Amino acid sequence: MDLVDFILRDKRDKQQEYTIHLFEFCNLSCPFCWQDHDNIVGIDTVLDKLESIEKFFQKEMRKHVVLNIMGGEIFADEIFDEKLKNDYISLAQGITDLGKKYKFESIGINWVTNLVISKRDYVRDLLKACRDMGCKSKLVTSYDPRGRFNKPNLEIFKENVYDFWDDLEGIGVLLTKSNIKYWLSDPKDFMHELYHKGVKVYADYYMPDCQAERSMPTDKEHYDIFTHFIDKYPKIEPIRSWIENERNVVSCRSSKLVLEDGTMCLCGNLVQEPRDKAMYKTDIQKANNKPIEKAFLEKYNCSTCEYFHRCTLGCFMAHDYKYAEEVFDECVYKMTHRYIENKGLR
Ligand SMILES: C[S@@+](CC[C@H](N)C(=O)[O-])C[C@H]1O[C@@H](n2cnc3c(N)ncnc32)[C@H](O)[C@@H]1O
Ligand code: SF4
Ligand code: SF4
Repeated sequence: MDLVDFILRDKRDKQQEYTIHLFEFCNLSCPFCWQDHDNIVGIDTVLDKLESIEKFFQKEMRKHVVLNIMGGEIFADEIFDEKLKNDYISLAQGITDLGKKYKFESIGINWVTNLVISKRDYVRDLLKACRDMGCKSKLVTSYDPRGRFNKPNLEIFKENVYDFWDDLEGIGVLLTKSNIKYWLSDPKDFMHELYHKGVKVYADYYMPDCQAERSMPTDKEHYDIFTHFIDKYPKIEPIRSWIENERNVVSCRSSKLVLEDGTMCLCGNLVQEPRDKAMYKTDIQKANNKPIEKAFLEKYNCSTCEYFHRCTLGCFMAHDYKYAEEVFDECVYKMTHRYIENKGLR
């Protein structure tokens, strides 16, 4: 066992996450997203992904797996038709069969969508077909107050959130610079509404690419939004876990990825291109997260930290960004754990 594995031995999730990018085509063009939304590669070869998925499963050591299946936008009106729906159902059947073949104890499929869509019956057919084949299947979506929606799209999104209320696994909110700035003004926005209706909201770390300058938050902005969430939205993950749990696993789920062209990798999807790779201090490797994990653990000296057990650490990719603006001389998570203690929340 190498040093990184040794330090993180009790901090890995029992469930292995897979992220399957069927294609990159999308009906939106969020400015923080690294994909090429006009690229139609993969739309007519959805089932080919089963080959890469099986190659991953052959070596899978964990017994619980969940697959996040996404595009681009898998339910985009421009492309979502009867054939594509049937391909998704066959894909889900193929995955379920592979789950049995490799004797996983649990297997779930999340369909990741921007919910700016109108073919709702097809989505319902898909979810029903998955459940009929015994596969736990949900929808996952994202809300970004800045950059994602125009006015009509936001209305479509809101309507669909309520329409698929019981099918939603949760709503992700991305910690980009402009989203953070917006939430710090304490708006009573859609996230506020959903949070108070009990929806599971979780904050995702922004992963930098070559356009990161406008979206990558500073450590001070991260601290400001964490403390704001602690004060106003303490049930947002991972804030809730930091407050309530004595021990937490790392938030990086070392997702195993299949890209639109069948490429298999770990979360290096953003940094395949030389211009993106140039944004990082460490040599980012396609199928090995160890160098970025090691760089993080060494930079903050996590193994000696008093908060190590309850900390989820940060996104290893984000902290490897060469141009990160860091004004604090200590770890932002450490400062946040201390803030929680000083507030008497633990
Ligand atoms: C690429 S999208 C595809 C699925 C769907 N179109 C959607 O937006 O939910 C999947 C997830 O990636 C997130 N995402 C996009 N750009 C990102 C970035 N630079 N860093 C981290 N997450 C990002 C989105 O917010 C979304 O939750
Ligand atoms: S909706 Fe999803 S895939 Fe499309 S641009 Fe936005 S984050 Fe990227
Ligand atoms: S608080 Fe900072 S130094 Fe401590 S374990 Fe978490 S990331 Fe590492």
